[in-house]
Order: sequence, then structure tokens, then C-alpha cells
Amino acid sequence: MRVLGIETTCDETAAAVVEAVPGRPGEILSNEVMSQIAEHAAFGGVVPEIAARAHIETLDRLIERALDQAGVELKDLDGIAGAAGPGLIGGVIVGLTMAKALALAARKPFVAVNHLEAHALTARLTDEVTFPYLLLLASGGHTQLAAVKGVGDYVELGSTVDDAAGEAFDKVGKLLGLPYPGGPQVEKLAAGGNVARFDLPRPMLGRPLPDFSFSGLKTAVRQEIERIEPLTAADIADMCACFQSAVVDTIIDRCRVALRLFRELIGQPGAMVVAGGVAANQALRRALMRFCGEAGLRLILPPINLCTDNGAMIAWAGIERLSLGLMDDLTFAARARWPLDARAEAARLGRA
Ligand code: KG4
Ligand code: ZN
Repeated sequence: MRVLGIETTCDETAAAVVEAVPGRPGEILSNEVMSQIAEHAAFGGVVPEIAARAHIETLDRLIERALDQAGVELKDLDGIAGAAGPGLIGGVIVGLTMAKALALAARKPFVAVNHLEAHALTARLTDEVTFPYLLLLASGGHTQLAAVKGVGDYVELGSTVDDAAGEAFDKVGKLLGLPYPGGPQVEKLAAGGNVARFDLPRPMLGRPLPDFSFSGLKTAVRQEIERIEPLTAADIADMCACFQSAVVDTIIDRCRVALRLFRELIGQPGAMVVAGGVAANQALRRALMRFCGEAGLRLILPPINLCTDNGAMIAWAGIERLSLGLMDDLTFAARARWPLDARAEAARLGRA
């Protein structure tokens, strides 16, 4: 089975062709990603209107390139998958409409993919992993721990009550005067910083449910900065090291609690799977390897280009759904919000 995947939910325009090989993980025939970072950098964050326009400008050429690179034409595909949310609605509409139009024109099945589900299933594209498994998703827009029990079957164990982990990296980067996005910059400078210099909080540490909170940590960073301003290069590096260490400690503590909860509610997970842009962070990757080693848990860390937003994960989620006979109508509407676990979301909003 061969599927084209289209991703436009945030600031990456992406298209990819993935093939399912029976009995093995998937094969990525092409994976084209066009980052809009340069367009947004001057504003210190993603500007939704600019993102939507940039998707329109590049998406058609990107899809052509993905098809050429894979050596296939639309007629050779078994389906077309488009990310239908959650995300910045203008951008989502661009990619979803393109996916529907191609499906209609080529008379192929259409799949509306949940972007979070695509992150959650990426490990099954790269590695042989069976359900259920523990998922840590840490990106610029989302931070959560979930039990992945099957395609479309997720139990949210915990999530952030305020900022996402990547968002915290980006905001701290901004406070330190670093270019957008802050995550990779903070990691680079942290390598030369003194991790013992500032005593920053580890929010939520020890709490019985594996939720996250990062806004208090960001405030602590801001207060430290205001105390020692003007900042030298050494101050910035030390702050990057201390902030990164606080985030990593918090995430590992939350993973420990989530694993305990998973074992109580579901049983032994087959693996721990990590996804989202923050999973590119080497300090976090090392800490996760240690944690999983100690917990006797197999760790699956997809390559960095599959942790950040990409089209291959959308195509793969399309393959997973089509393999189960799941496809969608062309009336499927773009969704700004679309939780992995609707029951957990409803409970949080006090409706269940
Ligand atoms: O998954 P992603 O590409 O986009 C979405 O948010 O969906 O994640 C981007 C986020 C940004 O906040 C970025 O700063 C963060 O991931 N990030 C990192 C690193 N690389 C990217 N955070 C920490 N360390 C990194 N090396
Ligand atoms: Zn994402």
C-alpha cells in the first residue's frame, strides 16, 4: 500500500510518499519538508496568517517533488492522507483542501489524519512495535503522556496545564535574546554552561498524576534574568544549561509517574515511544535512555527528522487507518482542536 501524506498544521509545509511493506516497518519513498522558520523569525514565533500563505505558495511544488522523488504518479497511490488538525486553522485548511482535491481528481480514498495520532504512530513506521506502548509527545504545541492502545485508541495519562515544553524552550530563548526557535539554540549554548549556577524549580515534581507545567519555570528564569541583567555570554550559557536541566528532570519525573499509572491501568507497555520536536534534544534523549534502561523498558526514539513535523508521519497514519478500512468523507472539516483522547479532554473541561 502506497500513500501520499500532506502536513500543513503549523510552520512546516510537508509532503511524503510512504509504502507499507507486509511484516516490516514502512518504507519512506520520499519526505519533502519546507520549513518556514525564516518567514516567522522576525516575529519571534509563528504568525498564523503568514504560515497559511506560505503553505499555499509552496505546497503544490512540494507535492510534485515528493511524487517525483518517490518515482510514482497519483494513479499509483492507494490513498491520500491530509492532516486535518489540530493546528493553525488557516494552514490546516490549505493542506486538507489540497488532499481532498487530489483524492477527488485521482479517485483515490481520502484519509483525514489527526496530527497528534501521526506523531504517536511514527514509531511503527520506523520500528516494529506492537500496542500498547507509552508515548511521550513533546513539541512546540503539545506536551503529553499517553497510552497508545491501538489506532484511534488512546488514553491520556497526563498533559501540560499551561505551556508546551517546546514553547517553554522558545519563550526562554526569547527572554535570553536568542533567535527563534529557541529550542535548538538553548541546547547548543547549554553545552558550554554551568548547570549548577541557578537554582530553578522543577514544576510538578513528585505529583501523583503525570501532568506538566512550564510557566512557573519560565517566570523563574525571567526573574533571575532581571536580577543579574545585563547578561554576559557566560550568563546566557549558564541559564540555558540550568533551564534545560530543569526541563529534563521534570519530564523524566513525569515519565516515571506515567509508567506507574500505565502499569496500573493497562499492564506492561511494549515500549516507550518519543515524538515531537523537543525529542531532538540530546540531553533529553540521554536522560530517556537512562530512564528506560533502569525501568527495563524498550525505548524508541525516531530519527530527529521524523520527530519534528513531516509528511511521512501523516502518510503512515493514513496507511494504518486504510489498513483497518478507515477512510473519510470529503466533507471532513478542518479542526483547530482535536485531542487524542476526547474523554480526557471532556473531563478536564468539566463535561464528564
Ligand atoms: O514537533 P515540532 O517540529 O512542531 C510542533 O510544535 O508541532 O516542534 C517544534 C518545537 C519548537 O518549540 C522547538 O523549539 C522545539 O520543538 N525543539 C527543541 C529542539 N529542537 C526543536 N527543543 C529543545 N531542544 C531541541 N534540540
Ligand atoms: Zn507536531
